[in-house]
Amino acid sequence: MLNTQELDQRAREIIRQNDMGGYTVPTHGLYPYQWNWDSAFSAWGTATFDTTTGWAEMETLMNAQWDTGMVPHIVFHKLDPGYFPGPDVWQTGHTPPTSGITQPPVAASMVKLMMLDDSENGLQKARDLFPKLKAWHAWFMRERCESGAVAIMHPWESGRDNARDWDGAMANIDPSNVGEYTRRDTSHVDSSMRPTKEDYDRFITLVHQGRDLHWDQSKIREQGYFRVACPGMTFILMRANLDLAIIAKSLGEPTDEIDAWSETLQKGATTLWNAERQHYDSLDLRTGEFAGCLSNASFLCWYGDAGNDTMFEHYERVLSISKYPVPSLDPADPHFDSLRYWRGPTWGIINTLIGQGFHYNGYDDKATTLRKATADLIQEHGFAEYFDPNNGQPAGGSDFTWTAAIWLAWASPSAPQTLDSE
Ligand code: GLC
Repeated sequence: MLNTQELDQRAREIIRQNDMGGYTVPTHGLYPYQWNWDSAFSAWGTATFDTTTGWAEMETLMNAQWDTGMVPHIVFHKLDPGYFPGPDVWQTGHTPPTSGITQPPVAASMVKLMMLDDSENGLQKARDLFPKLKAWHAWFMRERCESGAVAIMHPWESGRDNARDWDGAMANIDPSNVGEYTRRDTSHVDSSMRPTKEDYDRFITLVHQGRDLHWDQSKIREQGYFRVACPGMTFILMRANLDLAIIAKSLGEPTDEIDAWSETLQKGATTLWNAERQHYDSLDLRTGEFAGCLSNASFLCWYGDAGNDTMFEHYERVLSISKYPVPSLDPADPHFDSLRYWRGPTWGIINTLIGQGFHYNGYDDKATTLRKATADLIQEHGFAEYFDPNNGQPAGGSDFTWTAAIWLAWASPSAPQTLDSE
């Protein structure tokens, strides 16, 4: 087993190997482009040993922003036939070519952390990025918050592609016109660890619909086959707004508008409380039905400053039955599948955000316990994309950028642990 210094060294090597010049790929083969939230985590992790390269990655991501303010979920810098669906399927007409949907807005929170750790250039870099981050958050508030919480129009936007949360809404999509296509993911990774064909047909049907509606948000809002308010996106945007306000204050910028967004989302988050099951849940905005499942995104409530005692009870129970927490689905759920992507496995990046949420709310002992559990998992099982919560088995892609990044910036005993600010 590698020791802390060796693991730090290995994590830096992985990030360097995945560096394409100005950005990293999540892992070679399976994900050969720049992914939005992967890139933000990567920038933060990279900045622990190379601030210039870390900031450059954040800038490359934000430079792909659309005029509407949306920051896309994939930027297709150099064409790679090993990935499907590529730019020819998305047809967004954007330069550089991008997908037509977004991903969890962790960027402002990572910029805040990087700013606090870089006394030399941090403030200037944050000043350059601030208008873009604010425009992205404004886009979310304008286009995605009709219920008060953050809605997604495609499961991929949540970053939790095949989560149990989407099963009900996905079942209402008719995929019969999807046509012929060839998946590439299952040529890189065992298909038992990936979304099913039923899921994939619907993922592609939604991409076709977005393309046919020219990625027009108001049309997608009205006609989209899939519209679900997501606790993960909501809590992440809540924290991102708080962090954006901290950046604004450091720059001497007003925070009124950002503060108003925070208030809207605080109220919006209450609409995600499933009173019958007593936990935060995803809400299908087309049918008004809750998904009825407890995922690791529900445990981001503290990250969004919306935690409560009942959620602690759920958290303690889930922890007591998971050797390597936090599983992406409650192991007591009949759909729990310990190796299938977002339907059971443990993900280091979500653990990082849950741990930060504990810390921000003064539960330092809980934050430390989760950090230590995540560090043990990585030390014992490597820098995999995700892990089996029962035995730690590494799964999905290997040498994964964001697992290396959160090791360096958060899980490693040598990580800086900068979180506070005001
Ligand atoms: C998968 C994950 C998503 C991630 C992407 C690249 O689609 O579900 O969260 O951003 O892979 O790693």
